[in-house]
Amino acid sequence: MIIEASNLSFSYPSSAPVLEEVSFCVREGEVFAIVGGNGSGKSTLARHLNALIPVQSGTLKVAGMDASDPENTYPIRRACGMVFQDPNNEFVSSVAEEDIAFGLQNFNFPEDRIPQIVSRSLSSVGLAGFERRDPHSLSGGQKQRLAIAAVLALSPKIIVLDEATAMLDPEGRAQVMDLALSLKKQGITVVMITHFVEEAALADRVMVLSLGRVLALGSPSEVLVEKEILKKARLCPLLPTLSYWSLLEEGLVSPSPPPLSEEGLWEAMCR
Ligand SMILES: Nc1ncnc2c1ncn2[C@@H]1O[C@H](COP(=O)(O)OP(=O)(O)OP(=O)(O)O)[C@@H](O)[C@H]1O
Ligand SMILES: [Mg+2]
Repeated sequence: MIIEASNLSFSYPSSAPVLEEVSFCVREGEVFAIVGGNGSGKSTLARHLNALIPVQSGTLKVAGMDASDPENTYPIRRACGMVFQDPNNEFVSSVAEEDIAFGLQNFNFPEDRIPQIVSRSLSSVGLAGFERRDPHSLSGGQKQRLAIAAVLALSPKIIVLDEATAMLDPEGRAQVMDLALSLKKQGITVVMITHFVEEAALADRVMVLSLGRVLALGSPSEVLVEKEILKKARLCPLLPTLSYWSLLEEGLVSPSPPPLSEEGLWEAMCR
Protein backbone atom coordinates (compact mmCIF):
# COMPACT_ATOMS: atom_id res chain seq x y z
CA MET A 1 0.00 0.00 0.00
CA ILE A 2 1.48 3.33 -1.02
CA ILE A 3 -0.79 5.37 1.27
CA GLU A 4 -2.06 4.07 4.61
CA ALA A 5 -4.28 6.34 6.67
CA SER A 6 -5.68 5.12 9.94
CA ASN A 7 -8.17 7.06 12.08
CA LEU A 8 -7.01 10.45 10.80
CA SER A 9 -8.83 13.29 12.53
CA PHE A 10 -8.17 16.99 12.04
CA SER A 11 -9.54 20.35 13.18
CA TYR A 12 -8.42 23.81 12.11
CA PRO A 13 -7.84 26.22 15.01
CA SER A 14 -11.14 26.84 16.78
CA SER A 15 -13.15 24.82 14.26
CA ALA A 16 -15.24 21.70 14.58
CA PRO A 17 -13.49 18.53 13.31
CA VAL A 18 -13.02 18.63 9.54
CA LEU A 19 -11.78 15.02 9.31
CA GLU A 20 -13.05 12.36 11.70
CA GLU A 21 -11.49 8.92 12.01
CA VAL A 22 -10.65 8.69 8.32
CA SER A 23 -9.11 5.32 7.41
CA PHE A 24 -8.21 4.07 3.93
CA CYS A 25 -5.39 2.61 1.88
CA VAL A 26 -4.29 3.42 -1.65
CA ARG A 27 -2.69 0.64 -3.67
CA GLU A 28 0.49 1.31 -5.59
CA GLY A 29 -0.26 2.17 -9.24
CA GLU A 30 -4.01 2.64 -8.93
CA VAL A 31 -6.18 5.63 -9.76
CA PHE A 32 -7.96 6.41 -6.50
CA ALA A 33 -10.78 8.96 -6.63
CA ILE A 34 -11.98 10.96 -3.64
CA VAL A 35 -15.43 12.50 -4.06
CA GLY A 36 -17.63 14.51 -1.76
CA GLY A 37 -19.59 17.75 -1.58
CA ASN A 38 -18.19 21.19 -0.75
CA GLY A 39 -16.56 21.30 2.64
CA SER A 40 -16.47 17.53 3.09
CA GLY A 41 -12.74 17.67 3.87
CA LYS A 42 -11.25 16.56 0.55
CA SER A 43 -8.63 19.30 0.28
CA THR A 44 -7.75 18.99 3.95
CA LEU A 45 -7.11 15.30 3.39
CA ALA A 46 -5.09 16.07 0.22
CA ARG A 47 -2.90 18.48 2.18
CA HIS A 48 -2.15 15.70 4.65
CA LEU A 49 -0.95 13.43 1.83
CA ASN A 50 1.57 16.06 0.76
CA ALA A 51 2.66 16.91 4.32
CA LEU A 52 1.32 20.46 3.91
CA ILE A 53 -0.56 20.10 7.17
CA PRO A 54 0.57 18.02 10.12
CA VAL A 55 -1.07 14.86 11.41
CA GLN A 56 -3.00 15.80 14.55
CA SER A 57 -4.50 12.47 15.42
CA GLY A 58 -4.29 9.01 13.88
CA THR A 59 -1.51 7.73 11.63
CA LEU A 60 -0.54 8.34 8.03
CA LYS A 61 2.12 6.65 5.92
CA VAL A 62 2.91 8.03 2.48
CA ALA A 63 5.25 6.04 0.22
CA GLY A 64 6.41 4.14 3.28
CA MET A 65 7.16 7.30 5.29
CA ASP A 66 5.50 8.27 8.55
CA ALA A 67 3.89 11.67 7.92
CA SER A 68 4.01 12.64 11.59
CA ASP A 69 7.81 12.62 11.57
CA PRO A 70 8.90 16.19 10.59
CA GLU A 71 12.08 14.72 9.06
CA ASN A 72 9.89 13.16 6.38
CA THR A 73 8.18 16.39 5.30
CA TYR A 74 10.42 17.11 2.29
CA PRO A 75 10.83 13.47 1.20
CA ILE A 76 7.02 13.13 1.30
CA ARG A 77 6.55 16.32 -0.74
CA ARG A 78 8.91 14.97 -3.35
CA ALA A 79 7.31 11.51 -3.41
CA CYS A 80 3.78 12.91 -3.53
CA GLY A 81 3.21 15.87 -5.86
CA MET A 82 0.10 18.07 -5.81
CA VAL A 83 -1.80 19.90 -8.51
CA PHE A 84 -4.44 22.36 -7.35
CA GLN A 85 -7.69 23.66 -8.72
CA ASP A 86 -6.74 27.10 -9.98
CA PRO A 87 -4.02 26.88 -12.63
CA ASN A 88 -3.42 30.63 -12.34
CA ASN A 89 -2.00 30.28 -8.84
CA GLU A 90 0.54 27.61 -9.66
CA PHE A 91 3.30 29.40 -11.54
CA VAL A 92 6.28 31.27 -10.14
CA SER A 93 7.94 32.26 -13.41
CA SER A 94 6.81 33.84 -16.68
CA VAL A 95 8.73 31.19 -18.65
CA ALA A 96 7.46 27.60 -18.66
CA GLU A 97 10.85 25.90 -18.51
CA GLU A 98 12.00 28.12 -15.64
CA ASP A 99 8.89 27.24 -13.73
CA ILE A 100 9.72 23.53 -13.88
CA ALA A 101 13.42 24.18 -13.21
CA PHE A 102 12.51 26.14 -10.08
CA GLY A 103 10.93 23.08 -8.47
CA LEU A 104 13.96 20.97 -9.33
CA GLN A 105 16.33 23.57 -7.85
CA ASN A 106 14.26 23.59 -4.67
CA PHE A 107 14.91 19.89 -4.31
CA ASN A 108 18.63 20.35 -5.10
CA PHE A 109 18.70 18.53 -8.41
CA PRO A 110 22.15 18.90 -10.07
CA GLU A 111 22.07 21.96 -12.38
CA ASP A 112 23.51 20.08 -15.37
CA ARG A 113 20.66 17.55 -15.36
CA ILE A 114 17.87 20.13 -15.14
CA PRO A 115 17.49 21.07 -18.86
CA GLN A 116 17.08 17.43 -19.86
CA ILE A 117 14.52 16.73 -17.11
CA VAL A 118 12.58 19.88 -18.05
CA SER A 119 12.27 18.96 -21.71
CA ARG A 120 11.39 15.34 -20.87
CA SER A 121 8.63 16.49 -18.50
CA LEU A 122 7.18 18.92 -21.06
CA SER A 123 7.14 16.18 -23.72
CA SER A 124 5.45 13.75 -21.36
CA VAL A 125 2.44 16.08 -21.01
CA GLY A 126 2.31 16.95 -24.73
CA LEU A 127 3.87 20.41 -24.31
CA ALA A 128 7.15 19.91 -26.19
CA GLY A 129 8.07 23.23 -27.81
CA PHE A 130 6.39 25.26 -25.05
CA GLU A 131 9.70 25.82 -23.17
CA ARG A 132 9.79 29.61 -23.61
CA ARG A 133 6.05 30.25 -23.33
CA ASP A 134 4.61 32.37 -20.54
CA PRO A 135 2.46 29.96 -18.47
CA HIS A 136 -0.19 32.67 -18.15
CA SER A 137 -0.57 32.73 -21.95
CA LEU A 138 -1.61 29.05 -22.06
CA SER A 139 -5.15 27.66 -22.18
CA GLY A 140 -6.57 26.28 -18.93
CA GLY A 141 -5.95 22.68 -19.98
CA GLN A 142 -2.39 23.50 -21.04
CA LYS A 143 -1.77 25.30 -17.73
CA GLN A 144 -2.83 22.23 -15.76
CA ARG A 145 -0.69 20.01 -17.97
CA LEU A 146 2.26 22.32 -17.29
CA ALA A 147 1.55 22.11 -13.56
CA ILE A 148 1.53 18.31 -13.89
CA ALA A 149 4.84 18.47 -15.82
CA ALA A 150 6.39 20.44 -12.94
CA VAL A 151 5.33 17.68 -10.56
CA LEU A 152 6.44 14.86 -12.89
CA ALA A 153 9.90 16.46 -13.17
CA LEU A 154 10.50 15.40 -9.56
CA SER A 155 9.75 11.73 -10.42
CA PRO A 156 7.03 11.37 -7.81
CA LYS A 157 5.53 8.04 -6.81
CA ILE A 158 2.13 9.63 -6.24
CA ILE A 159 0.35 12.60 -7.79
CA VAL A 160 -2.64 14.20 -6.08
CA LEU A 161 -4.97 16.22 -8.31
CA ASP A 162 -7.18 18.38 -6.10
CA GLU A 163 -10.07 19.24 -8.43
CA ALA A 164 -7.52 19.94 -11.15
CA THR A 165 -10.26 19.91 -13.81
CA ALA A 166 -12.83 22.03 -11.94
CA MET A 167 -12.06 25.30 -13.74
CA LEU A 168 -11.59 23.83 -17.21
CA ASP A 169 -13.92 23.63 -20.20
CA PRO A 170 -14.90 20.14 -21.47
CA GLU A 171 -11.92 19.95 -23.81
CA GLY A 172 -9.43 21.00 -21.11
CA ARG A 173 -11.03 18.54 -18.69
CA ALA A 174 -10.70 15.72 -21.19
CA GLN A 175 -7.03 16.58 -21.82
CA VAL A 176 -6.20 16.58 -18.11
CA MET A 177 -8.22 13.42 -17.43
CA ASP A 178 -6.52 11.54 -20.29
CA LEU A 179 -3.15 12.62 -18.93
CA ALA A 180 -4.07 11.63 -15.35
CA LEU A 181 -5.19 8.19 -16.48
CA SER A 182 -2.05 7.75 -18.59
CA LEU A 183 0.19 8.38 -15.56
CA LYS A 184 -0.92 5.00 -14.26
CA LYS A 185 0.85 3.37 -17.22
CA GLN A 186 4.10 4.94 -15.97
CA GLY A 187 3.54 3.29 -12.59
CA ILE A 188 2.49 6.53 -10.88
CA THR A 189 -0.28 6.30 -8.31
CA VAL A 190 -2.97 8.92 -8.96
CA VAL A 191 -5.21 10.34 -6.23
CA MET A 192 -7.91 12.27 -8.02
CA ILE A 193 -10.15 14.55 -6.01
CA THR A 194 -13.24 15.55 -7.93
CA HIS A 195 -16.81 16.75 -7.83
CA PHE A 196 -17.55 15.01 -11.10
CA VAL A 197 -18.98 11.53 -10.74
CA GLU A 198 -18.09 11.02 -14.47
CA GLU A 199 -14.41 11.38 -13.56
CA ALA A 200 -14.64 9.18 -10.46
CA ALA A 201 -16.25 6.48 -12.63
CA LEU A 202 -12.93 6.20 -14.51
CA ALA A 203 -10.93 5.43 -11.34
CA ASP A 204 -10.01 1.98 -10.07
CA ARG A 205 -11.56 2.74 -6.68
CA VAL A 206 -13.59 5.56 -5.20
CA MET A 207 -13.82 6.88 -1.67
CA VAL A 208 -16.79 9.06 -0.74
CA LEU A 209 -16.32 11.66 1.99
CA SER A 210 -19.17 13.36 3.77
CA LEU A 211 -18.74 15.79 6.65
CA GLY A 212 -15.18 14.60 7.17
CA ARG A 213 -16.06 10.92 7.37
CA VAL A 214 -15.63 8.03 4.94
CA LEU A 215 -19.10 7.19 3.70
CA ALA A 216 -18.12 4.50 1.21
CA LEU A 217 -15.07 2.97 -0.44
CA GLY A 218 -15.05 0.49 -3.33
CA SER A 219 -15.06 0.12 -7.08
CA PRO A 220 -17.01 2.76 -9.08
CA SER A 221 -19.66 0.16 -9.98
CA GLU A 222 -20.17 -0.62 -6.29
CA VAL A 223 -20.16 2.92 -4.93
CA LEU A 224 -21.42 5.30 -7.61
CA VAL A 225 -24.76 3.55 -8.03
CA GLU A 226 -25.77 3.71 -4.37
CA LYS A 227 -28.63 6.23 -4.23
CA GLU A 228 -28.37 6.85 -0.49
CA ILE A 229 -24.60 7.39 -0.58
CA LEU A 230 -24.81 9.80 -3.52
CA LYS A 231 -27.61 11.73 -1.88
CA LYS A 232 -25.85 11.97 1.46
CA ALA A 233 -22.63 13.12 -0.24
CA ARG A 234 -24.57 15.61 -2.42
CA LEU A 235 -23.34 14.04 -5.65
CA CYS A 236 -25.25 13.71 -8.93
CA PRO A 237 -25.63 10.20 -10.31
CA LEU A 238 -24.39 9.59 -13.83
CA LEU A 239 -26.87 10.05 -16.67
CA PRO A 240 -26.89 6.33 -17.68
CA THR A 241 -27.52 5.37 -14.03
CA LEU A 242 -30.37 7.91 -13.75
CA SER A 243 -31.91 6.73 -17.02
CA TYR A 244 -31.70 3.11 -15.83
CA TRP A 245 -33.51 3.98 -12.60
CA SER A 246 -36.31 5.75 -14.54
CA LEU A 247 -36.70 2.80 -16.90
CA LEU A 248 -36.72 0.41 -13.94
CA GLU A 249 -39.46 2.43 -12.24
CA GLU A 250 -41.56 2.20 -15.38
CA GLY A 251 -40.91 -1.53 -15.60
CA LEU A 252 -39.09 -1.15 -18.92
CA VAL A 253 -35.90 -2.91 -17.80
CA SER A 254 -35.42 -5.83 -15.44
CA PRO A 255 -33.45 -5.37 -12.21
CA SER A 256 -29.69 -5.71 -12.73
CA PRO A 257 -26.61 -3.88 -11.43
CA PRO A 258 -27.14 -0.21 -12.42
CA PRO A 259 -24.90 0.88 -15.31
CA LEU A 260 -22.27 3.62 -15.20
CA SER A 261 -21.83 3.93 -18.96
CA GLU A 262 -24.04 4.34 -22.02
CA GLU A 263 -22.95 0.88 -23.20
CA GLY A 264 -24.01 -0.55 -19.84
CA LEU A 265 -27.40 1.17 -20.16
CA TRP A 266 -27.80 -0.19 -23.68
CA GLU A 267 -27.01 -3.72 -22.46
CA ALA A 268 -29.56 -3.39 -19.64
CA MET A 269 -32.19 -2.30 -22.19
CA CYS A 270 -31.40 -5.22 -24.50
CA ARG A 271 -31.68 -7.82 -21.73
N1 LIG B 1 -7.48 27.16 6.60
C1 LIG B 1 -8.68 26.87 7.15
N2 LIG B 1 -9.03 27.39 8.36
C2 LIG B 1 -10.24 27.10 8.92
N3 LIG B 1 -11.14 26.28 8.35
C3 LIG B 1 -10.84 25.73 7.15
C4 LIG B 1 -9.59 26.01 6.48
N4 LIG B 1 -9.58 25.33 5.32
C5 LIG B 1 -10.75 24.67 5.25
N5 LIG B 1 -11.50 24.91 6.35
C6 LIG B 1 -12.83 24.33 6.63
O1 LIG B 1 -12.71 22.93 6.65
C7 LIG B 1 -13.85 22.31 6.03
C8 LIG B 1 -13.37 21.38 4.94
O2 LIG B 1 -12.76 22.14 3.95
P1 LIG B 1 -12.00 21.49 2.71
O3 LIG B 1 -11.45 22.60 1.91
O4 LIG B 1 -11.06 20.45 3.19
O5 LIG B 1 -13.23 20.78 1.95
P2 LIG B 1 -13.38 20.33 0.45
O6 LIG B 1 -14.09 19.04 0.49
O7 LIG B 1 -12.07 20.37 -0.24
O8 LIG B 1 -14.35 21.43 -0.15
P3 LIG B 1 -14.47 21.99 -1.68
O9 LIG B 1 -15.26 20.96 -2.43
O10 LIG B 1 -15.23 23.26 -1.52
O11 LIG B 1 -13.09 22.18 -2.22
C9 LIG B 1 -14.73 23.44 5.56
O12 LIG B 1 -15.75 23.61 6.49
C10 LIG B 1 -13.81 24.65 5.53
O13 LIG B 1 -14.51 25.82 5.82
MG1 LIG C 1 -11.32 21.38 -1.93
